Amino acid sequence: MTQTLALGLFFGMLLMHFPVSAQALSTDSVKVVWQSPEGEKALGDFHLAELPASAHKKSQEKDPVMGDVVSWEGYLLSSLVEKAWSQLSVDQRATVDLIILKGRDGARAAIPRVIVDKNPMLLAVKRKGQEIGTRGPVYSVVPWTSQSKLKQEPLPWEHYFVAGVEQVELTNSHSVYNGYFLTKRSDPRAVRGERVFVQGCIGCHDSTIETSKKREHALTLAKGIEHKPIVGVPHFSEADQKALQTYFKALGTEVKPQN
Ligand code: HEC
Repeated sequence: MTQTLALGLFFGMLLMHFPVSAQALSTDSVKVVWQSPEGEKALGDFHLAELPASAHKKSQEKDPVMGDVVSWEGYLLSSLVEKAWSQLSVDQRATVDLIILKGRDGARAAIPRVIVDKNPMLLAVKRKGQEIGTRGPVYSVVPWTSQSKLKQEPLPWEHYFVAGVEQVELTNSHSVYNGYFLTKRSDPRAVRGERVFVQGCIGCHDSTIETSKKREHALTLAKGIEHKPIVGVPHFSEADQKALQTYFKALGTEVKPQN
């Protein structure tokens, strides 16, 4: 009898404590989903602290908001992706060429998978040894100081720093950017411009609009090749600018969207 009572008390206390510890744990939890051809599939909620020790990293990178080079501590985005997609077949994984980070306040960064594969992109949980605060608890940090060559690529790097990362989406650029792609693909310069556009411009300008409206949308952006000065707009080389012009011109002459 007393034993039952004691057990009851024990579980009662456990229950009382449970919500608190669950909350404490959930701060570093990130959801990973896969956009399959059949629709969205959740791969799970992952606690970053439970990733293998090799995922835990520190690095010194420039803070895009404060402007100083500081130490960041966190977990490799590539390790999270690897853990999450162990549930997918090799063929399914091969379709993933775009990784979208979604933040608490609707921030959204679409990052080419090769960038994540080849560079130590961090899901940081600490800045200068402290929790990240308003930009946390999980903040994505680009290794643009330690891997200085990165900045030469015309990608919106500042935009890849996402505050309050909650979700990582594994997807395919053709399904996301379908509608921006050219039907006629024989001119390599136009095709290069297409890539510069979807990665360098659509990285910031919304890609969530309807496929049928995407061409029109792209053409409204054409005058932005010489962009007003906005933090995060990459430097486009002369060749990239020419490629963009060729892309917009080719897009303007195509009537029907590609399926
Ligand atoms: C770092 C994010 C970022 C990148 C990269 C970027 N833009 Fe923008 N762009 C903006 C923002 C923010 C505005 C809105 C500025 C404002 O309203 O004052 C804007 C405004 C514009 C405008 C003015 C009309 C409008 O829609 O507000 C055009 C046109 C444009 N961008 C085209 C482009 C093109 C083309 C590229 C690629 C060559 C590009 N942008 C890359 C963030 C970006």
